[in-house]
Amino acid sequence: MESSKVTKAREQKGCKVKRLEAWLGSWHRENAALEAAAAAREKAPKGQAASTFHKAALLSGPPGVGKTSTAKVLLQALNYDVVELNASDTRSQKQLQAFAGDMVGNTSIADFADGKVGGKQRKLALIMDECDGMSAGDRGGMMALLGVIKASKMPIICICNDRQSAKVNTLDLMTFDDI
Ligand SMILES: Nc1ncnc2c1ncn2[C@@H]1O[C@H](COP(=O)(O)OP(=O)(O)OP(=O)(O)O)[C@@H](O)[C@H]1O
Ligand SMILES: [Mg+2]
Repeated sequence: MESSKVTKAREQKGCKVKRLEAWLGSWHRENAALEAAAAAREKAPKGQAASTFHKAALLSGPPGVGKTSTAKVLLQALNYDVVELNASDTRSQKQLQAFAGDMVGNTSIADFADGKVGGKQRKLALIMDECDGMSAGDRGGMMALLGVIKASKMPIICICNDRQSAKVNTLDLMTFDDI
């Protein structure tokens, strides 16, 4: 029999996964609204309050708690094709852009991300693992990741161990702690 503490922890985790699922479920609709609002603002700069929608989510928690597995299993269950990158391997801005920048901003791939290609309903999502694992000197890498998030046409799930890390704090993310 489980202790009530374990049961409670599991329930809380379940709630976070449900929130993450809801965020993914409305992602393309919210992003389309954001893009439409941005286009409208160009015509009438004073209109529209800022949206609360976030293009990227952040899962945080200690090693081995199941962050990467949760992200992968959930995305696969929602029929996403998952691209996994490890931020601590992508040492420079150039590398990050080569891996991710083209991919998320590129129109043809964006169409693919929307499921418009080949008549098949495929969606792409990006997992950016170990976001707090970038080397301390890699400010360019973090800036590149920020750029990728801003331009992204697909959901991005960022993963880190330390939510309080200054590096992660610079990202504008929907946060799900301790998944
Ligand atoms: N819900 C679960 N039930 C059983 N095993 C799980 C579950 N989630 C993850 N695991 C297992 O726990 C181990 C660690 O999971 P995972 O790699 O996802 O953790 P992590 O939080 O990403 O860790 P790290 O910070 O080290 O990358 C893996 O072997 C995985 O298969
Ligand atoms: Mg992991």
